[in-house]
Amino acid sequence: TNRPLIDSFSRTISYVRLSVTDRCDLRCSYCMPERMQFLPKAEVLTLEELHRLSLAFIARGIRKIRLTGGEPLVRREVMTLINLLGRELGQGLDELTLTTNGTQLTQHADALAAAGVRRINVSLDTLKPELFAQLTRRDALAQVLAGIDAADRAGLKIKINAVALKGLNEDEMPSLIGWAHGRGFDVTLIEVMPLGEVEEDRFDHYLPLTAVRDQLAQRWTLAESPHNSGGPARYVDVAETGGRLGFITPLTNNFCASCNRVRVTATGQIFMCLGQNDQVDLRAALRGDDSDAALDAALDRAIQRKPERHDFHIDAPGAAPALARHMSMTGG
Ligand code: GTP
Ligand code: 5AD
Ligand code: SF4
Repeated sequence: TNRPLIDSFSRTISYVRLSVTDRCDLRCSYCMPERMQFLPKAEVLTLEELHRLSLAFIARGIRKIRLTGGEPLVRREVMTLINLLGRELGQGLDELTLTTNGTQLTQHADALAAAGVRRINVSLDTLKPELFAQLTRRDALAQVLAGIDAADRAGLKIKINAVALKGLNEDEMPSLIGWAHGRGFDVTLIEVMPLGEVEEDRFDHYLPLTAVRDQLAQRWTLAESPHNSGGPARYVDVAETGGRLGFITPLTNNFCASCNRVRVTATGQIFMCLGQNDQVDLRAALRGDDSDAALDAALDRAIQRKPERHDFHIDAPGAAPALARHMSMTGG
């Protein structure tokens, strides 16, 4: 069965974001509460199931797999899965990558490169140790920076993801971007999204990237980047730093028309859109049938249901999050 996954708006789905665990060793305050309730292990797909699911996706035309979490590198034996998936590179799979908070990279950077991973995205909102500890509720900046160094030395290309937060890292944008570009890393800024209850009102720190971009444009020359290729980020090239800067603006500029992706949670629920709650259970199909027939049918059903666009908005203080699910279920 090599039918490609094409949705009802003629978008071809070629990219899967696969969450390998909902757990994380940090507690970013916009992402989860300090006492986050994690899933019982029996609910989570085994590494064998994650592998089988990935192969089924590749057979249906998926060319890029990004492992996410929670924090993917806190999953026990995750390197076993990454090594197995690395074997599919050049055999249908074009890219194997991950989005990580960086805390475990010192241990894993060399193995990731050896498995065929070429670039990774590292979440880092600040270079100030105290602000990092406040934002993530863990004093781990030095560990993350050591991890980034290790990844760099291992030859991995690095992109830094930073959520832009009013009154927190707002003033640090130029120095964070300057640091990253100085080291040859791309940067993507992200608008905070109303996903899941946390112990703060996200409205208090919501910073529209339109404002950030205007500010940066007073300091630097920003030119539309030829790199813009349909992903959610809009990229500019910064003449003065020689680096690339992306803006992910779910709230101020919708990018769904070019969406090429789906997400799978660690329990095997496929979400057709980050900003919607519709989901299809792939775990039941995996566990109920040793052939991939049920799985293929579930994939068809899921892709048919992919909605046209998300519907995020942060319009008033005190409003409940748009969705009860936390970002750590789908890894962004
Ligand atoms: P590249 O492969 O480098 O283009 O990265 P990516 O943007 O696909 O992945 P990454 O994990 O770096 O994504 C950064 C963040 O962008 C995610 O954590 C999400 O917060 C956000 N994001 C990515 N894709 C989508 C999307 O389809 N919709 C929305 N609303 N946000 C997205
Ligand atoms: N809104 C926007 N980005 C978020 N992330 C986690 N929670 C949210 C949220 N509510 C980001 C992380 C990381 C990526 C995986 O998602 O900072 O960069
Ligand atoms: Fe962990 Fe990422 Fe959520 Fe931070 S944003 S708590 S690093 S999953």
